[in-house]
Amino acid sequence: MISRRTTLKALGFTSLTSGLILGFPAVTSAQAPQKPLQIPTQAFGELEGNSRRFQLTLQRGSSSFLPGLQTETIGINGSYLGPTLRFHRNEEVSLSVTNQLGEPSTLHWHGFHLPAIQDGGPHQTIENSATWNPSFTVVQFAGTFWYHSHMLDTAGEQVYRGLAGMIIVDDEQQQLPLPDMYGVDDIPLIIQDRRFNADGSFNYLSSFEDTVMGVHGDTILVNGTVNAQLQITRRLVRFRILNGSNARTYTLAFDDNREFFQIASDGGLLDSPVGLIRLELAPAERAEILVALAPGEQLRLINVGRDPTFPEFPGGMSSMMRALNAQSFDLLTLSAAASLEGENAIPGQLTSIYRLPAAAATNTRRFVLAMGAGMRSGSDRGPGTGMRNGLGGGYGGGNFSINGRRMVEDFINERIVMNTTEIWEIQNTSPMMHPFHVHNGQFQLLDRNGSPPPANEMGWKDTVRIESGELVRIIMRFTDFTDEEHPYMYHCHILEHEDRGMMGQFLVV
Ligand code: C2O
Ligand code: CU
Ligand code: CU
Repeated sequence: MISRRTTLKALGFTSLTSGLILGFPAVTSAQAPQKPLQIPTQAFGELEGNSRRFQLTLQRGSSSFLPGLQTETIGINGSYLGPTLRFHRNEEVSLSVTNQLGEPSTLHWHGFHLPAIQDGGPHQTIENSATWNPSFTVVQFAGTFWYHSHMLDTAGEQVYRGLAGMIIVDDEQQQLPLPDMYGVDDIPLIIQDRRFNADGSFNYLSSFEDTVMGVHGDTILVNGTVNAQLQITRRLVRFRILNGSNARTYTLAFDDNREFFQIASDGGLLDSPVGLIRLELAPAERAEILVALAPGEQLRLINVGRDPTFPEFPGGMSSMMRALNAQSFDLLTLSAAASLEGENAIPGQLTSIYRLPAAAATNTRRFVLAMGAGMRSGSDRGPGTGMRNGLGGGYGGGNFSINGRRMVEDFINERIVMNTTEIWEIQNTSPMMHPFHVHNGQFQLLDRNGSPPPANEMGWKDTVRIESGELVRIIMRFTDFTDEEHPYMYHCHILEHEDRGMMGQFLVV
């Protein structure tokens, strides 16, 4: 339980760099009026015995993001995105997923430890008009997870159109005094960037840059809302932030540079709250944060554009990489009521994470992330050798590979022995960052380029940023489920990279 409490008196009210108001400009959608932040409805499922039943329908619809314009979208039980599914630790969930999209799809439970055949990866295709009935026991700690299309080759497009939603795992055992009123002081934030055509339709994958860097948009949606605004009535607010973007990495901050506290990473609570003024979140990463507000104030959650670090030289590669993540955006405006309820105290200790010792590992694997776009990737064999035989690389075509291979459906890249602990060394020889994701549960970071990870990366993770030139070591246990036939995936979570083959398959046997 709580061993000590830290009172955050005044922390929310003064900026750390005193007097400095950064005043980041709103770059886009300034013309669109502010709209109340949409809060996805919650689905609790129907309890039958020890099993919670959920009915999900993948469907087409139309949404209004921009004033006076309609956008064709897809969603789950709605027209864009899906309900927030509330799972409970140690309970079974059984889901009935009906596909009415008119095209094949899948639904993947991102971050969950489960049998491969229940995973919803590219091998669990749901044909149009078909229903898929997965079920599994939720062994995850309380935390913020998500579900999304994992259709081979078209996951990027389907997620872009709306096939994603949040999952919150609850744990009755957990008695921490954290904000937990959904939509009031416990707020889901699914952050996505989109690009629109003049007629309001989504503009997906339309340039060479899109294929190389992944699709980036100039309009930010939070839970499907452009220019979102939220009324705050409590002193202390918890945000469950999911970077649900296809490719964009955010550097999150508040516009007055105030300190906030990260309390959870991908797989649940951190040992203790980590004070931050900036939080980097790559596609598929999640973070729960606490921020304190003062009565009557307005506060903006923003994305801070980065100064380019990539060297400047003639040609497309340099200008593309220098433009990456350089834009600042407003994400959400918070308006605090004239008087606020509750306290702004947070627990000093959240949980106690068992660190997997490196010495427990019996096997080490290395994964080299490479791309050949105007330059040769690390382990390719020259132009034209890649596409057909699953070998990656080649010149000038935005080819992505892991260990020199592109993912092909019938090739198993790795076989892992059940009940073993492994270290995976992930090395990025490409010019840009790739968020590396492993299915079948949560891992821990051992180090980044030999240095200990920052405090907010010391918890459970399922997706980790691998910066250009970096070598990151993760450690993971493979337990409970074996399957000689059905693989799990590991891949870059920039969905355009995944769709173009930056993915591999492993069996646990
Ligand atoms: Cu979020 Cu393999 O997926
Ligand atoms: Cu996943
Ligand atoms: Cu990538």
